[in-house]
Amino acid sequence: MTQDELKRQAAARAVELVRPGMRLGLGTGSTAKLFVDLLGERVAAGLDVICVATSEATQAQALSLSIPMSTLDETPELDLTVDGADELDSQLRLIKGGGAALLREKIVAAASKRMVVIADESKLVKCLGRFPLPIEVVPFGLEATRRAVLAATASAGASGDLVLRRKADGSVLLTDGGHYILDAHLGEIAEPEALATALVAVPGVVEHGLFLGLAKAAILAAGTGLTVLGSLD
Ligand code: A5P
Repeated sequence: MTQDELKRQAAARAVELVRPGMRLGLGTGSTAKLFVDLLGERVAAGLDVICVATSEATQAQALSLSIPMSTLDETPELDLTVDGADELDSQLRLIKGGGAALLREKIVAAASKRMVVIADESKLVKCLGRFPLPIEVVPFGLEATRRAVLAATASAGASGDLVLRRKADGSVLLTDGGHYILDAHLGEIAEPEALATALVAVPGVVEHGLFLGLAKAAILAAGTGLTVLGSLD
């Protein structure tokens, strides 16, 4: 089975969690995109839901499928958010932001009663950190912020290079919120909670890609079938 087929299986299981009248958060990335496609099919068949997107890309996709869209201002409490992840561990701690949408993804997940992660099994790791940790920063004072982030990561026992994320054409990537992303190549993050605490204390850091205590469950697809971490109830 291809990775895309595995992702689709996880997305299809997550669509089964959707009930009429639900307020949904829609994630970002290739796996979340498959979920939105499948949700669009159910909406076309008459399912009544209202959704909030975690990125401009997801918003455009959902609108193209005629999925009813709202905002967190109009709909500040959500029932369920379904999103992908770049990495997760067995405690449902995540690294997100490979698609640069971490800030809105975290705000939407935090506004949801439940966040369910969908992924293929390759995303499950023993220890977070193989995937570079995205850290969203304001452009003002970039070099000072970069140095403060380096000190913060070191203080949490997780040192490594910080790379300013660029687009394929070489220009600096701007997030939907108009910020930059520093990708932290930390290797194993032994204490994600300590690192998260250190990072949020740095002025200029808008958000980081550690999602701790947010996901209630993960649906992981492998060639042998689906595995669920946590509870889908
Ligand atoms: C977007 O910013 C990310 O957090 C994505 O959710 C994450 O990168 C997973 O994307 P894929 O489903 O494409 O692997």
